[in-house]
Amino acid sequence: MSEHEQTLFPPPADVASSARISSMEQYRELYRESLDDPDAFWAREAGQLLWRKPWDRLLDWQPPFAKWFVGGQLNVSENCLDRHLKTRGDQTALLWEGEPGEVLAITYRQLHERVCRCASALTELGVQAGDRVILYLPMIPEAAVAMLACARIGAVHSVIFGGFSADAIRERTQDAGAETIITADGNFRRGQALPLKANVDSALAGLDQVKRVLVVRRTGSEISMQSGRDLWWHEVVDSASPDFPPPAFDANHPLFILYTSGSTGKPKGILHGSGGYLAGASLTTKYVFDLRDEDLYWCTADVGWITGHSYIVYGPLAQGATTLLYEGAPNQPAEDRFWDIIERHRVTVFYTAPTAVRAFMKWGRVHPQKHDLSSLRLLGSVGEPINPEAWHWYHQQIGGGRCPILDTWWQTETGAHMLTPLPGATPLKPGSATLPFFGVEADIVDEQGQPVPPHTRGLLVIRRPWPSLMQGLYGDAERYQEVYWSRFPGTYLAGDAATRDEDGYFWVIGRIDDVLNVSGHRLGTAEIESALVDHDAVAEAAVVGRPDEIKGESIVAFVILKGRYQDSPDLRAELRQHVAKVIGAIARPDEVRITPGLPKTRSGKIMRRLLKEITRTGEISGDVTTLDDPQIVDALLGRN
Ligand code: WT7
Repeated sequence: MSEHEQTLFPPPADVASSARISSMEQYRELYRESLDDPDAFWAREAGQLLWRKPWDRLLDWQPPFAKWFVGGQLNVSENCLDRHLKTRGDQTALLWEGEPGEVLAITYRQLHERVCRCASALTELGVQAGDRVILYLPMIPEAAVAMLACARIGAVHSVIFGGFSADAIRERTQDAGAETIITADGNFRRGQALPLKANVDSALAGLDQVKRVLVVRRTGSEISMQSGRDLWWHEVVDSASPDFPPPAFDANHPLFILYTSGSTGKPKGILHGSGGYLAGASLTTKYVFDLRDEDLYWCTADVGWITGHSYIVYGPLAQGATTLLYEGAPNQPAEDRFWDIIERHRVTVFYTAPTAVRAFMKWGRVHPQKHDLSSLRLLGSVGEPINPEAWHWYHQQIGGGRCPILDTWWQTETGAHMLTPLPGATPLKPGSATLPFFGVEADIVDEQGQPVPPHTRGLLVIRRPWPSLMQGLYGDAERYQEVYWSRFPGTYLAGDAATRDEDGYFWVIGRIDDVLNVSGHRLGTAEIESALVDHDAVAEAAVVGRPDEIKGESIVAFVILKGRYQDSPDLRAELRQHVAKVIGAIARPDEVRITPGLPKTRSGKIMRRLLKEITRTGEISGDVTTLDDPQIVDALLGRN
């Protein structure tokens, strides 16, 4: 295969000698145990969490539904907070930096108190175990506090990324049946105060399902408060009781819903449980980031994505780590903000996305070179395959050639890392997420479900359930079964294509469905298409991804206008803006092309392959004989 696979980066001796897993033999032994004797493996590993009642049975597997730690009881927030008070009460749990520059170190004791007050306030407001609570917040401490407070009272949080629009909030609020929303007046991004509360207000217009909106004051912007519904966080939380003993919940009590894009217009509500999810997030944090007391760990994701859930909040706090939360943009006030943060706080473990690395590359190495990054010992990558060029730059310019790069493959659905190197054990190959984590039986199969030989492209599957597997899609058992488990019964279909090399290393290629990966964020083409068709001028739309140097993929929309509309730059700009309004700025197409028709098969299916090729090369080389109207190709290529 390609030559970059030849280069192996063995773990540096100093990393290996101090790591929890310090050789491939040790990894293999534990990996074997995790598959051959899961009872022993999980009794030892998950047994380190605080269980209020031990489980009776490790797994109840009724495909496609898995229940882990059956009969066990725990409280997730107790595991992330109370459990550490004796040993780490005065250690910083959350180190927060606001975009304008404030720094706040919140100890475990303080975080515990804040979470208890929030739990008391929510309870006084009538929120109960099992109720869904929408969180639409900036990257401020209150985001973590609200998540943990929901966990403490057994309410199910659903965090909506702050970049999503009013329509997206409304859709998710309705789907989740939430009566409570926690938001802020606004958030700071690139020096500007962007509205959050105003978006919630428009989302809720005419919707009386939501009974209460708790509002954190962050930007101080002018907002309207609806009496009887809206309450200031500082008025109800700060004065609420700091005593809130954690109730014990069933190991399979739901913890959160997180919406993610699929191949239809409707986002999927990924539902995660308590014990299994926490075991997965906690164990991967322990072994992959190999955290120890001196570490300052920083994951740059937003809490609105699964990475923020598992690797800013739940995993690190379950491990008693110090986790850094940064509110703003990487280039505010300048392109060296991240390196400045690393230098000032002496960050040791840094976890970011390939799209960010490519942006750093574009901004130039002068920015990291201005700073002392010698505190770093491990680097992480997540969200898409990291191209070897970005890998080498990250390794050299940020890691000074000393720090292993942990390329972690996983998904919202998997809850925690699935394919990943271990820093002290796994020799790295740039671009490969390497080998399966403990308990993960990964494989690559052909269309019939048969394992493919090395270097052959196939479908990435997981052959048995693992603890942090989602519990299902909220309110849609059928879609859960259909999307993930119907192709190969009893086997989880990840939706990614991959190959494996002769060493068993996995090389993830990308999605097999109509899902784009834009800056590490998943966006369904169908969702963007339905946002376009929602505009009065649009008769039909087809969206494809085009490779993009920084974002991984950029969004190109082919649009057929209704007869009375005419192509114009203004209209195209309006359509792009319309998508941003309906879904959020992250979904705004980079380009809108007006076309008289779309390439379709005789059965009416849009041939995206052709559209992709046109956006990439401006040509069509492949077979067009199955097209219903071959003339459309000329029109798309601008030949008539
Ligand atoms: C999809 C999941 C998991 C948190 C971030 C995204 C792609 C993710 C990698 C990686 C290659 C990756 C896959 C996956 N992906 N990490 N290290 N190498 N591809 O979560 O939004 O649920 O998206 O992201 O295509 O299926 P998500």
